[in-house]
Amino acid sequence: MLQGKKILLGITGSISAYKINYLVRHLVKAKAEVKVIATPAALDFISPLTLSTLSKNPVAVEFTNSESGIWNNHVELGEWADVFVVAPASANTLAKMAAGICDNLLLAVYLSAKCPVWFAPAMDLDMYQHPSTKNNIATLLSYGNRLIPPGSGELASGLVGEGRLEEPEEIANQLIDFFKKKNDLAGYKALVTAGPTYEYIDPVRFIGNPSSGKMGIAVADELANRGAEVHLICGPSAVKNKNLKVARINVKSAQEMFEAAVADADAYDIAVMAAAVSDFTPQKTFTHKVKKQGVNNDDQLNIELKRTQDILKCFGDQKQSHQVLIGFAMETDQELENAQQKLSNKNADLIVLNSLNEAGAGFQHNTNKVTFVGKNKEVVNVSLKDKTELAVDLVDKIIELQGQKNQ
Ligand code: CTP
Repeated sequence: MLQGKKILLGITGSISAYKINYLVRHLVKAKAEVKVIATPAALDFISPLTLSTLSKNPVAVEFTNSESGIWNNHVELGEWADVFVVAPASANTLAKMAAGICDNLLLAVYLSAKCPVWFAPAMDLDMYQHPSTKNNIATLLSYGNRLIPPGSGELASGLVGEGRLEEPEEIANQLIDFFKKKNDLAGYKALVTAGPTYEYIDPVRFIGNPSSGKMGIAVADELANRGAEVHLICGPSAVKNKNLKVARINVKSAQEMFEAAVADADAYDIAVMAAAVSDFTPQKTFTHKVKKQGVNNDDQLNIELKRTQDILKCFGDQKQSHQVLIGFAMETDQELENAQQKLSNKNADLIVLNSLNEAGAGFQHNTNKVTFVGKNKEVVNVSLKDKTELAVDLVDKIIELQGQKNQ
């Protein structure tokens, strides 16, 4: 199942570190190649001899190997790995990873690794609930790292609650699942629109909206993570793509976004319209800055607006049988009814409904809470989660819809 896959495990100082012996066993049994790095604090809880015997590789702890005198090259270790899994990830190591601190080999490998990084927190429940820990986890997720959430149960302290390292078999299964899904969309071509649009009134003013682009950019990254060839048409956004294979075209106005999106409309198997496109744009753009005096004789400035082209509807009207089309809707009232109407008016296969009434959801946030609104009155409420995690759920859904089309 994991034949040929190279898995680098990073162990930090936690009582649950003993479970990693079993994780190594599961991974080796599944035919993965495994190497282990441990922090000095982890050595209080584990035996390097056990881990090196199970993994069939020496355990790296320091920058230099004290016995051989050879340098443990952190760049090479990071480059060797197909995935790097930090498990258990203590509160201390999570904080250092989030802050970019590099005072041991594990952290140096983390900072130089180009492969996907997973982290599995393990700590006492109050430490896990602490806002600093929550913020550090949110920061790590926003960098594109993947969380293996801790389970609930009896903790080493005797307290009962969230903070137990996920069971080794379950971690191994998540990795098997990841490698299985990795090429799900190989050979597929996807288009994503993201971010706001700016409709210029004059050279210094525009009509826009607070969309950060985070959701659409996360979806583009995840589609590329699954092997799709992704074209992202992005309005003004400071957010960068984590997957460098995404071909990104930056645009400003709704018209520019429309032209870039429809240029090769028939070629896409998947189109996800996550952009907050302005529905209106000024009828005329002033070539010089509009001054307070001189435009109108009174205290009012009237700007005439005209409709922009609806990219999602345009794709829906011309949709081919193999194409999966996803729209987003941001509503403040009659949310479900409006989303269902958008689904049918725009001939989409799914509408991702954002509510502005939900805390932690919508514009600017790293998290989002949405409802998938599909055909045949399908309504799936997705819990509040980081936008990168939501992107994984959405791409799973897209693959399900794609599968239905191929039947
Ligand atoms: N959309 C688009 N092009 C536009 C306007 C919207 O592609 N010119 C897409 C958005 O990217 C989103 C969906 O249409 O996927 C819904 O956008 P929204 O603005 O909520 O819906 P509208 O159809 O514009 O309806 P209204 O503003 O009246 O709610």
